[in-house]
Amino acid sequence: AKARHFKWEVKYMYGAPDCLENVVMGINDQFPGPTIKARAGDTVVVHLTNKLHTEGVVIHWHGIRQLGTPWADGTASISQCAINPEETFVYRFKVDKAGTYFYHGHYGMQRSAGLYGLLIVDVEEGKKEPFQYDGEFNLLLSDWWHKGVHEQELDLSVKPMRWIGEPQSLLINGRGQYNCTLASAHNSNGSGLPGCKFRGTERCAPNILHVMPNKTYRLRVASTTALASLNLAIGNHKMLMVEADGNYLEPFWVNDFDIYSGETYSVLIRTDQNPTDNYWISVGVRGRQPATPQALAILHYQSTTASKLPTLAPPVTPRWNDYNHSKSFSNQIRALAGSPTPPVINHRRIFLLNTQNRIDGYTKWAINNVSLSLPPTPYLGAIKHGLRNAFDQKSPPDTFEKTYDITRPPSNPNSTYGNGVYMLKFNSYIDVILQNANALNANVSEIHPWHLHGHDFWVLGYGEGMFSTKDEGMFNLKNPPLRNTAVVFPYGWTALRFVADNPGVWAFHCHIEPHLHMGMGVVFAEGVHLVGNIPNEALSCGLTGKMLMNKTYH
Ligand code: C2O
Ligand code: CU
Repeated sequence: AKARHFKWEVKYMYGAPDCLENVVMGINDQFPGPTIKARAGDTVVVHLTNKLHTEGVVIHWHGIRQLGTPWADGTASISQCAINPEETFVYRFKVDKAGTYFYHGHYGMQRSAGLYGLLIVDVEEGKKEPFQYDGEFNLLLSDWWHKGVHEQELDLSVKPMRWIGEPQSLLINGRGQYNCTLASAHNSNGSGLPGCKFRGTERCAPNILHVMPNKTYRLRVASTTALASLNLAIGNHKMLMVEADGNYLEPFWVNDFDIYSGETYSVLIRTDQNPTDNYWISVGVRGRQPATPQALAILHYQSTTASKLPTLAPPVTPRWNDYNHSKSFSNQIRALAGSPTPPVINHRRIFLLNTQNRIDGYTKWAINNVSLSLPPTPYLGAIKHGLRNAFDQKSPPDTFEKTYDITRPPSNPNSTYGNGVYMLKFNSYIDVILQNANALNANVSEIHPWHLHGHDFWVLGYGEGMFSTKDEGMFNLKNPPLRNTAVVFPYGWTALRFVADNPGVWAFHCHIEPHLHMGMGVVFAEGVHLVGNIPNEALSCGLTGKMLMNKTYH
């Protein structure tokens, strides 16, 4: 095992993610940020300097559990203070498990500004994956708005709220095409856009995956979208699902698959199609009425020229509201035989009802009628040092009124702000039942991909309507997949189980950036007395900042 050192500077820069010039948040003048490659067991050390001039920054290592280093989780107000302009914070953490991960900003809506990149962890030297391949490619999926992120934040926070709308573009590895279409030869796409003309050197030129015929390739796909749920398909090529969120799957074949924000997958493809042709990789929107064209990349067989556009039209994304398609995919996901299985009991079951609400006329999301508003002092330092004034000492509720009608807009839409913590008994088995409901408008219930920091959880099952205890009978305790992100479908529920065995304070939230910004999250804490020394740089704000000053001067 090695230590891998990186020196990064976060800066605003001009970019052209979808060919239109825009301000993006970059790392070392790159957008998306550099891909980190490491091996399981390595220590990653990132010296992160904030060059943003007027705002703080943090970076979260999505999917990395931060065993023993909860202060390196990179969540403002939870694990650390935001890094001030011109200051440097050192993230040092172990990547203990091979898999496909990514990183992103976790302060305000900086992820939407383009602060993200991939983190690929290979198996230890001399070890093998449970599948074989000849080469690999990474596809980092995101969505893009032309409106700047500060304006988006303001839109969501004013009264009445101004919804930011659907993204202008979908990006693959930070590239999309806004005012032209690559697939102009296939009038079936009906976009009415002119054909794109590329020399291939443009910053927004499409990705081309160069493959040899009759080989097996691994595609690592990660979604860091702010809003969009996506579906990916490749013309004429089936895909074998083998990994999700850094955990192996019982392999299964698909023609296309859904990927929600916060999820990663590895798929294997066999390049056994006509080698004198090229093929589209297409990514389209699911779960919301799409107003964004598909993103396209090209699978290029090296026996032909890369500039030859595919003869087949790009695969059509399944209808946006074909939820049965999404559910049947989610229900097919199983852990590879031999993976850790969940405890058969739970010590505590927390029901989390997500609702859209109003507070003084502001539009918010709430969990059990509490809309999360993060405190100025990060929880980790506050709990460790017993600073009881740092946040609400009262725990948020473990459940909600069972008479709540999830099929209708809330009869009383008023909610309240809160920043209390679910204190979990160390090493206990926790069940979370995510319960979806109707939003403020009639006949609207949205998809929410929930992401847990610091742990993987088992996804025990999905169901329709209101969860009831008899639904336990259909939990999969035999081979449920381990994940760090799981979706809750409209008007449905999702059951998760995890072991609270990682000392620290951990966010659990909807990975849709505007939803989190509007309060859709909760905070879990466990075993904080077991946490080692938190670096001072993580504590230098709020009440922990005052505490440090008193220590220095008295
Ligand atoms: Cu990738 Cu708290 O999120
Ligand atoms: Cu959400």
